[in-house]
Amino acid sequence: MLSVIILAAGQGTRMRSALPKVLHVLADRPLLEHVIDTAEQIGADDIHVVYGHGGQIVPTTLAHRTVAWVMQAQQLGTGHAVAQALPDIKPGNQVLILYGDVPLVSVETLTTLLKSAANDGFGLLTVTLTDASGYGRIIRDKSGAVTRIVEHKDATEQERQVNEVNTGILSVSSDRLNVWLKRLDNNNVQGEYYLTDIIAMAVQEGLTISTVSSGDENEVLGVNNKRQLATLERYYQQLQADRLMDAGVTLRDPARLDLRGVVECGRDVIIDVNVILTGNVTLGNNVNIGPNCVISNSTIGDDVTIFANSVIDEAVVGSGSRIGPFARLRPETVLAEETHIGNFVEIKKATIGRGSKVNHLSYVGDATVGKRVNIGAGTITCNYDGANKYLTEIGDDVFVGSDTQLIAPVKIGDGVTIGAGSTITKDVEPEVLALSRSKQQTITGWKRPVKKK
Ligand code: UD1
Ligand code: CA
Repeated sequence: MLSVIILAAGQGTRMRSALPKVLHVLADRPLLEHVIDTAEQIGADDIHVVYGHGGQIVPTTLAHRTVAWVMQAQQLGTGHAVAQALPDIKPGNQVLILYGDVPLVSVETLTTLLKSAANDGFGLLTVTLTDASGYGRIIRDKSGAVTRIVEHKDATEQERQVNEVNTGILSVSSDRLNVWLKRLDNNNVQGEYYLTDIIAMAVQEGLTISTVSSGDENEVLGVNNKRQLATLERYYQQLQADRLMDAGVTLRDPARLDLRGVVECGRDVIIDVNVILTGNVTLGNNVNIGPNCVISNSTIGDDVTIFANSVIDEAVVGSGSRIGPFARLRPETVLAEETHIGNFVEIKKATIGRGSKVNHLSYVGDATVGKRVNIGAGTITCNYDGANKYLTEIGDDVFVGSDTQLIAPVKIGDGVTIGAGSTITKDVEPEVLALSRSKQQTITGWKRPVKKK
């Protein structure tokens, strides 16, 4: 059985924020949530999160996650933090220690580490840095075996020359931890109970420390300030972009895509610059997304073109449709195949039938629109009376002239034509022309007023 302990009690002073560090977001999700995801992906049987600073906000924010929350009231060191979680962990379990502020460690690296610690071994994840200052250094004997870890603040000048550092991530059995953690003291420069002191204890008992070295320092980097958060966000985005390109997606500039959720792509998808995808997004085959589009929690069918500056949220777009430029699809929009939604058009909670067009400057909300309908420029479904919302129902093959107001609740039958500039307040039976327009007057010989001298 595998138990994961995530240390997340630290304050994060250098973030200069009221928010506890582990709740700062990377790709729209709290740092800690990335770590919980990783713990689940490597097959943790139980996950224990040690929290403290910021109090209940951390468990409250992540209440939807199945983890055991362990309060560490005072942050007395990493060894003390692990000791808080240990009583909840079954004897004989393999334990993996992760950090709530190290969000991007890969499943592959952790899997290798877990293997290195299997059968009551001790696995330690290290990394070699050009600038190792601040980190705990890995001290090895002449044969290359790890003997202990010395913290930067406790290290001698000679020890500080070592570039191989402790990532903090390690794996060992709960039985061993139980024995060693009880023996920790805080006789060091920081007056803390260092988890790292268990390495020397293990070596004394004749255990070999198996080290796994991370080839990519970004995956083991922690977040201590906003700059590091931004660095990791870029690293994460680069990984996402690489993954999409490897799957065949064309990115006009991989550095200018932001993927803050989960995207599924068909074949021959092309994404232009400055596109943001959030939540769960599904893109069919031959989807072409123009620059500056934001798409959240939506499903886009095959052969859809989304032109520049469109914003799509919780919508379904049928195959062969054309959206934008400057279109806004709001939640509960469902577009059938081959619809056209043009510039400065807002659609909300509406279904639009196959082949229908809303091409210019319109608002269609709380509506059902049939097939092959043409909605002229500047049409408004007046769905709200200031207190309640009402439905507009439009049949098939309707032609709505420009600048029409449809005062809901209202039903327009199949085949109806509505004259431009009409205010439609009553239901219209099928196949008729409806229009409400004051008669045009022509006054001949009329003179414009002239300015007084
Ligand atoms: C720790 C390691 C160091 C390693 C470095 C990697 C120790 C003694 N040192 O140092 O060898 O190179 O991480 O970044 O382990 N935490 C708690 N409760 C506490 C103390 C810490 O939950 O009482 C959490 C922090 O929130 C943080 C993590 O543990 O996520 C590491 O603590 P931090 O104080 O940053 O340790 P370092 O001094 O950086
Ligand atoms: Ca740290």
